[in-house]
Amino acid sequence: MDSIVVTGGSELTGQIPIAGAKNACLALMPATLLTEEPLTLMNAPRLSDIKTMTLLLQSLGSEVQSLADERVIAMSSLGPLSTTADYDIVRKMRASNLVLGPLLAREGEAVVSLPGGCAIGARPMDIHITALEALGAEIELRDGYLHAKAPGGLKGARVPFRFASVGATENTLMAATLAKGTTVIENAAREPEIIDLAACLSKMGAQIEGAGTSTIEVQGVDRLGGATHSVVTDRIELGTYMLAPAICGGDIECLGGRLDLVTAFAEKLDAAGISVEETEAGLRVARKNGRVTAIDVSTQPFPGFPTDLQAQMMALMCTADGVSHLEETIFENRFMHAPELLRMGADIEVHGGTATVTGVERLKGAPVMATDLRASVSLILAGLAAEGDTVVNRVYHLDRGYEHVEEKLGAVGAKIERVPVE
Ligand code: UD1
Repeated sequence: MDSIVVTGGSELTGQIPIAGAKNACLALMPATLLTEEPLTLMNAPRLSDIKTMTLLLQSLGSEVQSLADERVIAMSSLGPLSTTADYDIVRKMRASNLVLGPLLAREGEAVVSLPGGCAIGARPMDIHITALEALGAEIELRDGYLHAKAPGGLKGARVPFRFASVGATENTLMAATLAKGTTVIENAAREPEIIDLAACLSKMGAQIEGAGTSTIEVQGVDRLGGATHSVVTDRIELGTYMLAPAICGGDIECLGGRLDLVTAFAEKLDAAGISVEETEAGLRVARKNGRVTAIDVSTQPFPGFPTDLQAQMMALMCTADGVSHLEETIFENRFMHAPELLRMGADIEVHGGTATVTGVERLKGAPVMATDLRASVSLILAGLAAEGDTVVNRVYHLDRGYEHVEEKLGAVGAKIERVPVE
């Protein structure tokens, strides 16, 4: 498994292109299962999670082709389709559960492995299940698989969510497009990836109102057609690269960046003393003088501060002036980067869902272990600010969510290289 070696201390200047959103693309790809016509996604990110979703869809009988240097995904699901999503693929990536809603809507049945927990928490699927049951599905758990059936087809219903789950909103939205009658999702997730999915489904002929708000109304249709859709910018990759000049000084323009995708996050950067400016091509982030100011953060569903940027923000706070409190409210076990940052000389105490970070003048390079996707990149960011070399081991997590991080950061002046390990 490869390692990434970062030598800290360089200021960063230049432009970083931001890719299409992994999390949007992973929800858009299963939408192919809703139609016999071709669905083409442009601006796709080149990531191993996208390859995993490709394999899953192929295993179900879809044709999936990667074109234009993997920037375009051309899909077609003429059928017949298999309705079983195997544990071997689902366990690798939780987002595999997004085939449940579309398969059930199109085929009237689906057998999808329960993904199981992952490093950041238990991550149950009760909200997905309750929602699909409200649409008339019968769902049983047998042998680790969810067996879902809707012999007479799905029927529109009022679906109140106990929590605004992103994945459950996506599954329910896709299922509802082909249900009979009207579905109203209450307390729906409002993430930009939901808006992107709804936009694509609408191009396919779905009748959806309210995506991006807490109440989404879907009028079911008999069939959906094909479409071509460009994937929205990855706000988490954007936020991550906005933190790079914040952490080690410099001036970076994130190409394709949009302030409306990262408003809460940009407000925190501003409070920490980092300037964020909209440009014609994206967002420009600069740190001009001195240490950043410690700030407090609490993760929240969109439009709040994203949990997927908490680890990276912690890396910034490690060298801030003062004490910051980072509260994690979405996942129960999302501070695994903290012990690794301690190895680099950070001062962090974790009590329950809150990490208290007392900024130090300088971090020191060390060998560290990447435990999950966002934790891995936080260690790279910390390495950019540290004295000496930081070796981030087990970077396969990183390749799930960041395209060639070493090339993007290397191009703006970071000393960073990938070292293949046998
Ligand atoms: C998505 C994102 C992930 C992000 C997360 C929260 C994708 C592919 N992944 O994950 O990067 O960190 O949103 O913004 O888009 N929950 C339940 N029951 C359920 C569903 C969820 O209890 O049925 C809990 C989860 O355990 C978690 C919280 O709700 O604690 C948030 O989960 P959810 O919004 O569903 O996240 P994902 O869709 O899995």
